Amino acid sequence: MTIQKVLVIGAGQMGSGIAQVCAQAGFDVKLNDREEQFYNRGIQVITKNLSRDVEKGRKTEEEKTEILNRISKSLDLNDAADVDLVIEAAVENMEIKQQIFRQLDEITPAHTILATNTSSLPITEIAAVTNRPAKVIGMHFMNPVPVMKLVEIIRGLATTDEVYAAIEEMTKKLAKVPVEVNDFPGFVSNRILMPMINEAIYTLYEGVATKEAIDEVMKLGMNHPMGPLQLADFIGLDTCLYIMEILHEGFGDSKYRPCPLLRKYVKAGWLGKKTGRGFYVYE
Ligand code: CAA
Repeated sequence: MTIQKVLVIGAGQMGSGIAQVCAQAGFDVKLNDREEQFYNRGIQVITKNLSRDVEKGRKTEEEKTEILNRISKSLDLNDAADVDLVIEAAVENMEIKQQIFRQLDEITPAHTILATNTSSLPITEIAAVTNRPAKVIGMHFMNPVPVMKLVEIIRGLATTDEVYAAIEEMTKKLAKVPVEVNDFPGFVSNRILMPMINEAIYTLYEGVATKEAIDEVMKLGMNHPMGPLQLADFIGLDTCLYIMEILHEGFGDSKYRPCPLLRKYVKAGWLGKKTGRGFYVYE
């Protein structure tokens, strides 16, 4: 199972980062989105990241050009017809993901591995709509993708050892560290991270401390690079709520109930950094 050509679905924050690291590692990447404007925005972010690397002396101007030349535009899922790996980083919605995987199963050759960057949706359920559940796998990158070392690799119920090994090798080629995880709600990363963030929101909700104090305790006391409320803003409060709901529903345990303050902020449209306001205000 040699992977050479890759198609990434979704040119947002995660998809563009994934396309960038694939191109940096020498893979030919098609970056797919529904509309040209989304693709253009993704390429802009990649170009900005690479330009910063050139400024800091980590890459040459030639390397930057080579990396950008390895990324091509795709506005049609049929472009997946000649790739060895698809990494889907579309919106976190089971119906949409299943629809994409159904189409990919028709379009791609039999050897193609279909990976999803979902942060919490069951891999097994996505795989079940295809005729190749053995070749469906989770490849969960962390944000910001070019910086964070981890890729959580999630085996669906039917994922074969051969497919796991191919994705593990691919991850190492991307200069990332693969960690193997089984398919349970939130996997490992979000099963542990999101309840911590949710608890930080409860701490604010109950008036135990100010938002600044809560973040300061976790930054200076636990050596976290960002406090939990700042991190929630960075991830997106809608995403945090969505993942808490998946944990709550998936385990049926009240310890995962989302904090009412989190719901209130999401209803207000205060989704964090991306909307200019979450727990903090962003200019
Ligand atoms: N893209 C590319 N590079 C970036 C970047 C981005 N979006 N953001 C920061 N960087 C780079 C900067 O260029 C900088 O590199 P140099 O110093 O070599 O120039 C380096 O990262 C550090 O950045 P800063 O000095 O601006 O700021 P910082 O020291 O606070 O680091 C951070 C920024 C890496 C984001 C750090 O704050 C951090 O690690 N935060 C926590 C991130 C985290 O927990 N991510 C996981 C989120 S959960 C998730 O992704 C999974 C999920 O399913 C929800």
